[in-house]
Amino acid sequence: MNANQDNFKKIISHAKEYGFIFQSSEIYDGLSAVYDYAQNGVELKNNIKKYWWASMVQMNDNIVGLDSSILMHPTTWKASGHVDAFNDPLIDNKDSKLRYRADVLIEDYIAKIESKINKEIQKAKKRFGDKFDENQFKKTNPRVLENQKKIDNTISEMKKCFDNDDLVSLKKLIDDLGIVDPVSGTKNWTDIKQFNLMFSTSIGASSESSSEIFLRPETAQGIFVNFLNVQKSSRKKIPFGIAQIGKAFRNEIIARQFIFRMREFEQMEMQFFVKPGTQSEWYEKWKEIRMKWHKALALGDENYRFHDHDKLAHYADAACDIEFNFPFGFKELEGIHSRTDFDLAQHEEYSGKKLRYFDPEINESYVPYVVETSIGLDRMFLAVLASSFNEEQLKDNSSRVVLKIPGFLAPYKLAILPLVKKDGLPAYAKKIYDDLKIHFNITYDEKDAVGRRYRRQDAIGTPVCLTVDHDTINDDSVTLRFRDSMEQIRVKVIDVKNEIDSRINISNWLS
Ligand code: GAP
Repeated sequence: MNANQDNFKKIISHAKEYGFIFQSSEIYDGLSAVYDYAQNGVELKNNIKKYWWASMVQMNDNIVGLDSSILMHPTTWKASGHVDAFNDPLIDNKDSKLRYRADVLIEDYIAKIESKINKEIQKAKKRFGDKFDENQFKKTNPRVLENQKKIDNTISEMKKCFDNDDLVSLKKLIDDLGIVDPVSGTKNWTDIKQFNLMFSTSIGASSESSSEIFLRPETAQGIFVNFLNVQKSSRKKIPFGIAQIGKAFRNEIIARQFIFRMREFEQMEMQFFVKPGTQSEWYEKWKEIRMKWHKALALGDENYRFHDHDKLAHYADAACDIEFNFPFGFKELEGIHSRTDFDLAQHEEYSGKKLRYFDPEINESYVPYVVETSIGLDRMFLAVLASSFNEEQLKDNSSRVVLKIPGFLAPYKLAILPLVKKDGLPAYAKKIYDDLKIHFNITYDEKDAVGRRYRRQDAIGTPVCLTVDHDTINDDSVTLRFRDSMEQIRVKVIDVKNEIDSRINISNWLS
């Protein structure tokens, strides 16, 4: 097991032990790729939602919210293309009996070559020091050039296969590249088959009168079918956006990376409706805005990168991902798609209702174009959890596990700890708890030695601990101990609220 896999295992068991995430229906041995958010997890998740919602809806006069239903008229999914085209190309390895997405196998192959290129660059950087010119090196080094050529050829071959819907050539590409199953190590592959990812169920009381419907595989369609209702009732002028947070369901076949790929998950999506012809400009703008949103969290700028799609979805004229450096490597965290007028035009055709906007500036009606930003809430949760997880060796030779979660996202902002369980300290501490609980989420803990209580709070990411001791009773001062630095300061009880607020107020991040 490599260090990253080892670290990932630790994060998963930490998430369970400290009440962030549990396997769904665990007492029945669990349901694969479905998870429950526990007492601390739900707080962190809600705080991530708040950050996204505030940055979209509160901070933008031209974006409004929506909460549409999970169940929609089945024609929605015919119109959107999901019934016919929401497929994964799957391939099985006959030895390991494991199933893979063919495009992911090829992308992993490309990632390996990319990492070879990066190693060459790092080696050369060390050798040449300040004189090193990375661009020049990439243009001239024969090994880098050869590897880059391999990548370019593979991408172009893969794209050709997808453009032509040619699964036989896609299988041949996997064979020709010599791709082996990471588990069995063999090239004993089956043919590739398409598999639809939507979950279906039925609506209606009797088997004769019931009809098949789907659990939505994305929240976006709820926005599209409501486009005109929202536009008319909000009187928004184009360009404007509709934002929504909600559950989505996909019958994922390859679901092996904890909450990264789930069968039931949450999306935070925003569809931005623009005038046809201006979509490229808005696409670039939203790429920039979304990257800034991520980087404002200070989880490490080097952990993000853009990845342009090699294979465009059926609805897009441009698309990229914001990838995050998860413990298992760079993977998609958010998608930004220029969806053209595909969805609205399709819903017009299938419903027979006009979904047009009358633009008073040009005195014309048109079907707007759409730029979409779509982020997986659970993936965002994993990004925050994984990058916050630290095992630290302390000066006194002890160690601690600490979640350095950005303050405003932490499940609890403050832990209130009476030094001992007697001498009136718990009563004083509980009074502070009662006075402050209206302002932020606080936890109270009086069990065990205070050092152990600090460790427990570190492990769930509480940014500040407040200790009430014997002096507090006389001077109305308490000790504040900060999670990341472990620094302690003495402050008057009356100043505690401002002290905490200055560190965890969401406006610090939004601005
Ligand atoms: N409306 C566009 C759309 O759904 P997508 O790239 O399929 O696009 C958007 O999904 C985001 O949803 C992804 O970037 C990812 O963060 C999240 N996502 C997709 N499938 C997921 C899954 N099975 N489990 C968790 N998150 C998922």
